Amino acid sequence: MFLELDGHGPNYSQLTRALKSAILSGRLAAGARLPPTRVLAEELGLSRITVLTAYEQLRAEGYIIGRVGSGSYVSTSRAEPMPPQPASSPSIAPLTRYAKRARQLTDWSIAARHRDRRLDMQYGRPQVNPTLGAIWGRELAWAATRTKLEYASNQGLPALREQICDYLARHRGVRASPNQVLIVSGTQQAIALAARVLLDEGDEVAIEEPHYFGAWQQFGAHGATLLPIPTDHDGLVCSALPKQAPRLVMVTPSHQFPAGPALSMSRRQELLRYARTRNCWIMEDDYDGELRYDSPPLPALRSLDTDDRVIYVGTFSKVMFGALRLGYMVLPEALCGDFINAKYLCDRGNPAIEQAALAHFMEDGGFERHLRYMSRELNARRRELIAGLQQYAGERVQIADAHAGMHITAWLPDYDHTQVDALIADAHERGLGLYSIAPHYQNPPAVPGLILGYCGLSKAQLHEAMQLFGECLDAVDAAAREAQPRKRHQA
Ligand SMILES: Cc1ncc(COP(=O)(O)O)c(C=O)c1O
Repeated sequence: MFLELDGHGPNYSQLTRALKSAILSGRLAAGARLPPTRVLAEELGLSRITVLTAYEQLRAEGYIIGRVGSGSYVSTSRAEPMPPQPASSPSIAPLTRYAKRARQLTDWSIAARHRDRRLDMQYGRPQVNPTLGAIWGRELAWAATRTKLEYASNQGLPALREQICDYLARHRGVRASPNQVLIVSGTQQAIALAARVLLDEGDEVAIEEPHYFGAWQQFGAHGATLLPIPTDHDGLVCSALPKQAPRLVMVTPSHQFPAGPALSMSRRQELLRYARTRNCWIMEDDYDGELRYDSPPLPALRSLDTDDRVIYVGTFSKVMFGALRLGYMVLPEALCGDFINAKYLCDRGNPAIEQAALAHFMEDGGFERHLRYMSRELNARRRELIAGLQQYAGERVQIADAHAGMHITAWLPDYDHTQVDALIADAHERGLGLYSIAPHYQNPPAVPGLILGYCGLSKAQLHEAMQLFGECLDAVDAAAREAQPRKRHQA
């Protein structure tokens, strides 16, 4: 097996890095058997204990799994290898305006930037419940023997739509009938359908600043004109919405993505009034509204909507897993038919077996148990992260803790963007993946900030990550102190 050690640090870390890189690049495929430790030690001229330690580290981080008596295997539940970069110099010019805009808007490198780091603080990739894979396998097997194999309703299985209505009433304060619910392939498809049903090229969409890439890219590729509207500690600044209403206002009211605040009650009323009086639609992206900690749950904006102006979107990507590709919309009565038509034209509906499995999981209480487990576990990680930040970064960061979701935002008011870029680069070198909030803005924010995802790391790893973060901040401070007298000297 060809493995190149980079010569930095102890042999076991070099070997761990080399194996990780082979796994992440796909050279060692999911499920592949690793060589026995003795064989690899001989091949590389290392001691067996070195190889054992590297395997142990990879096992602890979930890259490999061990099977008693049959060796170690690349885990099948780890993240996929880095997605292939779309050709940077495609061989033909884009054939349509859509293809041209989509090329300009899709930057794959942002999401995957630190995926090979030991401590990756990527946001939005939940991997929390270790038993979910096995549970889901049983649900699928159950559903496969009970689902009719002909085309199912393109609006979504009635059983799943009913479960979703029941769930929304209890968890999000939303009252909906199954006829208003459309099952979609995640939020991304909901946005794509909204673009088709509501917008012609050039029509305006107001979108939060900072924004969610998925919405920006989807509406942008469709040819919409995007109007960034500022947000503050109360969420979207409704008074900044244009006098001439856009066709649609896209919001994340329960947990502004990615900065964190919830839309205050007075702003909610203001936004609903705006939509009513100016005759526009609101799209509520409630991506993690059910995950709230140490504070009362916040009902969805849709629950206050007496004029049927809010298109509500929920997803199972966060509370289950992204690969499921299942989400749902609660549609205003006037739009139901057009959205159902658009879904039919798009893909004839979602796979029935997955929908039946999910409906059963929800009906028999498994989903709620899983949610409770997730909330407990995520809250424990959130607290660990905040404690670590306070211990190692202290006053140097301002923590924007929304008591919700899977990430927090840490603002760095004493630093400039160049320093924060240097911090991120240094952290990357040390094995820590940090993400700036700046790419989510059209114009970089006045104060630099980081989005710290805590769903992919254990409590122990989060503590270690914050210790490393503190060291990286120390290094930035030391560089600034060093530059100071030099600047004075030059002056
Ligand atoms: C703001 C926001 N909305 C929605 C989603 C989920 O999108 P989907 O349901 O397409 O997986 C995410 C995932 O990261 C998100 O950050």
